Amino acid sequence: ARITLRQLLDHAAEHGYGVPAFNINNMEQALAILAAAEAVEAPVIIQASRGARSYAKDVMLARMVDALVELYPGIPLCLHQDHGNSEATCLSAIRHGFTSVMMDGSLKADGRTPAGYEENVAITARVAELAHAVGASVEGELGVLGSLETGEGDQEDGHGAAGKLAREQLLTDPDQAVDFVARTQVDALAIAMGTSHGAYKFSRRPDGEILAMDVIEAIHQKLPDTHLVMHGSSSVPQALQDLFNAYGGEMPQTWGVPVEEIVRGIRHGVRKINIDTDCRLAMAAMFRKVASENRAEFDPRKFLKPAMEAMSALCRERFEQFGAAGRA
Ligand code: G3H
Ligand code: 13P
Ligand code: NA
Ligand code: ZN
Repeated sequence: ARITLRQLLDHAAEHGYGVPAFNINNMEQALAILAAAEAVEAPVIIQASRGARSYAKDVMLARMVDALVELYPGIPLCLHQDHGNSEATCLSAIRHGFTSVMMDGSLKADGRTPAGYEENVAITARVAELAHAVGASVEGELGVLGSLETGEGDQEDGHGAAGKLAREQLLTDPDQAVDFVARTQVDALAIAMGTSHGAYKFSRRPDGEILAMDVIEAIHQKLPDTHLVMHGSSSVPQALQDLFNAYGGEMPQTWGVPVEEIVRGIRHGVRKINIDTDCRLAMAAMFRKVASENRAEFDPRKFLKPAMEAMSALCRERFEQFGAAGRA
């Protein structure tokens, strides 16, 4: 059944677990997530970026999610707009059956200046008022995602060209978070603590210097009732990097967010954990494997089925690790 992000995360908070939010762009990714959720009885957050919506088309995505709800009636399912950048993006998502939207005011506003902060508050509060009026939930973002190792803002977030950032600019300020939540009335708050989108997050296994989980603890202390969201939370497993590279891939060695750090975050108010890269890598590694082991193969299903199974295994593992298994 379709539910809102608010309903889903309230339940997660009540029972102390976290919910992975997986991105989709196509039918195979959607089916992979639901097969895993059904196997372990986990609630589901499926999110679509603006890029996903233009790739798959809104109507196709909407009908696909209608089909998932029909195929898996026992699984609570929230369809969420990932990184919405305007009122128009968020409202059109709701019109297409999304029960939750992210208004990422850190994209629109320069979150590092006082004027940028006020702009983020204003647009996020506007979207929250509109969304709440029609029963949808809202995620806001405070802070700039980026690397504490290099001081570079997140490329995919559009902050990459902003020049070097200081450590405090890359970490959400707990007092500002209190003000932001009070003024915007968001249902969930995405924060910055050293993660970034994509495969290349850390050049070594992260410690507290480059992955500031203590910021989460500080924010949770001040906002114990706010559902926190971790973006850029793929773990980029070594086994998937190795598989990808064993079949002709050329991915330079990299480190993601260790699952145990996410689990630590879940003990301190993290309820939604965004994962896209790991799913992409799981699928792409299987495409490479099939392509190199069966060089005459040209039936797309022969590539897509094992890729779907690899993504599903990854999803299942995260449902279990985050404590979402058995909660549907
Ligand atoms: O925020 C980044 C997500 O991984 C979605 O990526 O914009 O390439 O669909 P995308
Ligand atoms: P990853 O690139 O780490 O999977 O992060 C995805 C994300 O934050 C989507 O909003
Ligand atoms: Na999101
Ligand atoms: Zn994100």
